[in-house]
Amino acid sequence: MTRFSYSILARDGLARRGVISTPRGEIRTPAFMPVGTAATVKAMLPGSVRETGADILLGNTYHLMLRPGAERIARLGGLHRFMDWDRPILTDSGGFQVMSLSELRKLTEEGVRFRSHVDGSEHMLTPERSMEIQRLLGSDIVMCFDECPALPADRERIVESMRLSMRWARRSRDAFGDRPGHALFGIQQGGLEEDMRGESAEALASIGFDGYAIGGLAVGEGQEAMFACLDYAPGQLPDDKPRYLMGVGKPDDIVGAVQRGVDMFDCVLPSRSGRTGQALTRFGAVNLKNARHRDDPRPLDPECTCPCCTRYSRAYLHHVMRSGEIISSMLLTWHNLHYYQELMQGLRDAIEAGTLDAFAEGFHARRAEGDM
Ligand code: GUN
Ligand code: ZN
Repeated sequence: MTRFSYSILARDGLARRGVISTPRGEIRTPAFMPVGTAATVKAMLPGSVRETGADILLGNTYHLMLRPGAERIARLGGLHRFMDWDRPILTDSGGFQVMSLSELRKLTEEGVRFRSHVDGSEHMLTPERSMEIQRLLGSDIVMCFDECPALPADRERIVESMRLSMRWARRSRDAFGDRPGHALFGIQQGGLEEDMRGESAEALASIGFDGYAIGGLAVGEGQEAMFACLDYAPGQLPDDKPRYLMGVGKPDDIVGAVQRGVDMFDCVLPSRSGRTGQALTRFGAVNLKNARHRDDPRPLDPECTCPCCTRYSRAYLHHVMRSGEIISSMLLTWHNLHYYQELMQGLRDAIEAGTLDAFAEGFHARRAEGDM
């Protein structure tokens, strides 16, 4: 059986072009993972998500444990079969979502007790239960159970939270055990404090993981502060394992993070903004609800090869968006995910060619030109 492995095929500056091998298929890095929170990438069939170029999806422990339940998904053959996606799935561990979505949270050394945002029922998540849920789902890449404060936060709160997450990382590692073909990723915390990010990276590396995530960013600090942190955080993590920046981001966040040595990303932005009428393009964001598109026969992006851009006009997209038609979500989500995957392919090609900085310059120049 293929074991989980990561190899670096090329480098350009701090950026890496690599491949993660798993029994369910290869993941080309830098990689973007579409978000399939509730066992679906909203408005897309799995085959269509694959057609955009995705190698891996993200699923959420928090949502799936509450509805329909991890044991139920396991009885039905696991998450891959349940949602009809047979390629790799990474699952987040639930801690981060509990802190942002649930009600009446009580955080202790043991874990987090909380009330479901769905039906008010009471639940407890611990590192051990999170590992069990992610095993029941059949996740290929399992995330450690962690916790993090919203920024800005006091240094004391950041330090205590990071150290708790590192104790939970040890418990996650012990509970995960040895599962050939499945990977466990640690999550670095420490806010915007360089020394605490360093302490966290050392704690994780001494436990030993198959990959390392940078957590606790994109939580309100802004791009400048996030990039300042990414100027040192990836370099604190082991060089020979994949690095995953959680919950990021906008296209320009991804380009900047790849230049700083990040290999994996996930974000709801392309799928969520598709459902609100926002198209993400080479020229920046375009809001299809705007009346200026009402009589426009041109495609959204004449160079894009997605079904939305090859078959429909801006006028049609404007009409179905304004009318609240379901196809507006389908077409714009497809375009946005296609655009993200094309961006990742461009980044991978540029790293291989040793032209990443020129690629980034072209990327920024086209966005400065604006929408055609
Ligand atoms: N998603 C975005 N940021 C984080 C984080 O810090 N931890 C986890 N578990 N998930 C995240
Ligand atoms: Zn398109």
